[in-house]
Amino acid sequence: MSQSVIIDGKHLADQLKSEIAVEVKKMIDQGYNPPHLAAILVGEDPASETYVNSKEKACKEVGFISSIYRFESGIGEKKLLETIDFLNNDEEIDGFIVQLPLPEDISVDKVLERIKPSKDVDGFHPVNIGKMVINMPCYLPATPNGILQIIEKYKIPTEGKNCVVLGRSNIVGTPISILLSRKGYPGNATVTLCHSKTIGLKEICRNADILIAAIGQPEFVKADMVKEGAVVIDVGIHRIADSSKKSGFRLIGDVDFSKVSLKTSMISPVPGGVGPLTIVSLLQNTLKAARKEIYK
Ligand code: GUN
Repeated sequence: MSQSVIIDGKHLADQLKSEIAVEVKKMIDQGYNPPHLAAILVGEDPASETYVNSKEKACKEVGFISSIYRFESGIGEKKLLETIDFLNNDEEIDGFIVQLPLPEDISVDKVLERIKPSKDVDGFHPVNIGKMVINMPCYLPATPNGILQIIEKYKIPTEGKNCVVLGRSNIVGTPISILLSRKGYPGNATVTLCHSKTIGLKEICRNADILIAAIGQPEFVKADMVKEGAVVIDVGIHRIADSSKKSGFRLIGDVDFSKVSLKTSMISPVPGGVGPLTIVSLLQNTLKAARKEIYK
């Protein structure tokens, strides 16, 4: 068995960001404003802080304007919904996201439904999710779209393949299972969506040509769950204490990378795999929003 290809998400993301930057420059040369992405961040979850800061940095890199609306965890649902209304109506802002998770006293469903679908660059509004399911133009959710871009770039065959998705979250597992079973490429796969009540998980995984791990458990996928020559995409991201690092932690995924990568034909690492593409997908959606490509 030859060595596994390690998917270089950072390199692919850098290429795509350069392409976005070219488009932004064209917009500015034509007298338009650069795209403007806003993010609402509630509370002090360190992972959410990191995500939002990375999004802000990526906006700067491609020439977007970015704004962050920060609130304490006690903000309450009413004030948050008012902020969403404000951003929905602010013509300067092309798209915005509400960073998840939210404090327990706030209904995520109510919040996501309040965002105008035309500004919902996370693709989480029920209208955008519905359009995704029936293959109408919409904003695709960022992480699943990042996975599709990896599949395309690395020319990973999907037609007729057994694709197993671990985890049924609204953000990753459910949408990627739908996207890979749609007609076309990437798609036409036979998809099995596994979750906490699945029976015979190991056997199902061992039958996967493409295994997508979005289960939220560090190094859950072990080598004996993976078929020789499979493609493994790791969506997990977990901080593990590591005193040898300046930050005091290192990042690992949902896959036991060092052992699983000995069996795969291709594998995405953590960090540097899917993560960088997630942010690029958000930028791509914001560019589409600014150009009114999906909602006129
Ligand atoms: N929390 C984890 N991933 C995401 C994401 O893609 N968007 C938002 N808004 N929150 C998240």
